[in-house]
Amino acid sequence: MKRINNLFEITFKFKSQADITSIKPYGSGHINDTYRMKNLATEEYDYLLQKINHHVFKDVPKLTENMCRVIAHLKNKVSQTGAGDPQKEVMTLIATKAGPYFYQDTNGEYWRMSRFLKNTKTYDVVETAQQAYEGGKAFGKFQSMLCDLSPDLLHEVIPDFHNVKKRLEQLDDAIAHDPLHRLSLVPAELETIKAHAKSMLFFQEDAQVLTLPKRVIHYDTKFNNVLLDVEDKAQCVIDLDTVMPGYVAYDFGDAIRTIINKGTEDERELSNIKLNLPLFNAYTQGYLEEAMQFLNEWELRSLIKGVFLLPYMQAVRFLTDYINGDTYYKIESPHHNLQRTRAQLQLLKELFGHAELLEQNILKEAEKYQLIKN
Ligand SMILES: Nc1ncnc2c1ncn2[C@@H]1O[C@H](COP(=O)(O)OP(=O)(O)O)[C@@H](O)[C@H]1O
Ligand SMILES: [Mg+2]
Repeated sequence: MKRINNLFEITFKFKSQADITSIKPYGSGHINDTYRMKNLATEEYDYLLQKINHHVFKDVPKLTENMCRVIAHLKNKVSQTGAGDPQKEVMTLIATKAGPYFYQDTNGEYWRMSRFLKNTKTYDVVETAQQAYEGGKAFGKFQSMLCDLSPDLLHEVIPDFHNVKKRLEQLDDAIAHDPLHRLSLVPAELETIKAHAKSMLFFQEDAQVLTLPKRVIHYDTKFNNVLLDVEDKAQCVIDLDTVMPGYVAYDFGDAIRTIINKGTEDERELSNIKLNLPLFNAYTQGYLEEAMQFLNEWELRSLIKGVFLLPYMQAVRFLTDYINGDTYYKIESPHHNLQRTRAQLQLLKELFGHAELLEQNILKEAEKYQLIKN
């Protein structure tokens, strides 16, 4: 009960119009703690209160600045085009009575409040081609609306988040320390990771990267970060904690990583890890329908690199954590991180086995549109 009282106290710090009747945990996000607050006046907005994960996000003021900048840009875009409702298609943050868009409580915890978008839903896992298509449209439109916002205006709130070179250095550090003597258990995984390392450094080292603009991207393109309306159409991209400068292929690759795998992220039975090509094609179709308005030719060609990079980098991160003694990812069994590593490497193997087909499908879909020459 004390907890709920505290939550009520926290809501009073914000400038909401709310006459709150109930506060309940909401959603299945893994990072922040989310609560839905019902409004006594049913015609008024409900709200979401979120405790921001301060361990993952070290600088909440900078993170909030990024979010506010991106939200303002998106709302402007939706208003200018006149095609939609900025209140529904873009999330709305509520300021505190003191001014900032976050509140720090006496325990040092950070909180934020946003409007709850009624009549929306999220799915943790993509099940149908229609859903995959809507996911692609949502993130394609998101990037497209932000393509004229200078990435230099955003803070890098998690430095080197998708820098695979740094991730490999972290793996080397773990190998050097090997606190639980686990190295002897992972020679095959290490060999696979080493064998592909050079080709994965494309976004860090290849001269061609000079042709790829850094843009404002989402960095967490999971399907449950898209709110769908009652007709299952994409309405609003949420979870803007990680918006930062990056390459569009990162967002594409991370979305595909979860959508294309018929098995789970921690699949024990590796033979279950097969590619779901119809879902890949549907996501690609939705994505390019929006993104071809701004992608240059090199960016289009880089998308496939993201498809390989993201599972690879995830394998590197899982293995690093396994060797370090499971200090970052929560585990449900002693060798869970090793199992996750193997599942990602198996996915990578499947992706490499279908590399040409995947690339051709992207390019074939893109042929429907005119390429931007820049
Ligand atoms: N503005 C909103 N309106 C309705 N539901 C929302 C809204 N924002 C978040 N949610 C729901 O809460 C869940 C968790 O929110 P999210 O911001 O994604 O947190 P996390 O960073 O923990 O993933 C989402 O998956 C979604 O179901
Ligand atoms: Mg989320």
